[in-house]
Amino acid sequence: GNSAKGYSYETLQETANFLLARISIRPTIGIICGSGMGAYWKDGSLAESIVDAESIPYEEIPNFPISTVEGHHGRLVFGRLDGVSVVAMQGRFHYYEGYPLWKCCLPVRVMRLLGVKTLIATNAAGGLNPTYKIGDLMIVKDHINMMGFAGNNPLHGPNDERFGPRFPPMNKAYNYEYRKLAKEVAKEYNIENIVREGVYTCLGGPNFETVAELNMLKMVGVDAVGMSTVHEVITARHCDMNVFALSLITNECVTSYETDDQANHDEVLDVGRMRQDILRKFVSRLVTRFHQI
Ligand code: 6GU
Repeated sequence: GNSAKGYSYETLQETANFLLARISIRPTIGIICGSGMGAYWKDGSLAESIVDAESIPYEEIPNFPISTVEGHHGRLVFGRLDGVSVVAMQGRFHYYEGYPLWKCCLPVRVMRLLGVKTLIATNAAGGLNPTYKIGDLMIVKDHINMMGFAGNNPLHGPNDERFGPRFPPMNKAYNYEYRKLAKEVAKEYNIENIVREGVYTCLGGPNFETVAELNMLKMVGVDAVGMSTVHEVITARHCDMNVFALSLITNECVTSYETDDQANHDEVLDVGRMRQDILRKFVSRLVTRFHQI
């Protein structure tokens, strides 16, 4: 049966079997499209450029949570990007919506059971590194699991070895070869000037951070702050997936009391739209390149 801490392997296998019966695509790469990547809009986003697409709304998928974020699409899109079979989450589950972390990450395990070996997670984030500009893309080099420090972790609870080990290592969480390829692709596409590499942290939200909180994060080496991804990456690494993550810097974190700027969600979406062509092309190309190795 289902334990209080996450669904059993058998339950998630039922979800995977439902999807395998409904769709003909057998994806090897999974993409999580966050707020910066078309979770909120249709035209021109990466998920919308998937061909031979077969989409399934989360409501129709057994055991899936239902997205509560207004404007989020909430569906899985199966299909091909440049001939590579992929599955994309259009809209993700956030901790601030009220789900436990394991539930936010349930789709990652389902992807794994579908045969996905590579996870590409995207998000919108506030830039804390003072050299970052709005619209920059940050390749995630590493993360700091702030929620984990406080004892909240998607792997909390009994461990099923069929997913992965009780004590998974978390160095090398963000695949070195993928990061190297991403920097090559950035050169090839002439967007080196906006592509950075740095450390991401996730806070639970839904409020944006105080000035003191952001200054603390800066001191411990955080380059960008968001409200997702870290727990998904932990879940993916636990079940031995290769991970790449990309943050779209949608705003500058306010680290001074002397400014009237305030982080807001509309700005996050505006910058996502502004960068959607670049993001779509960049991530599509990464899919092809990752598939080749
Ligand atoms: Cl400033 N903070 C957090 N936690 N998430 C964000 C953000 C800031 N900007 C975009 N997403």
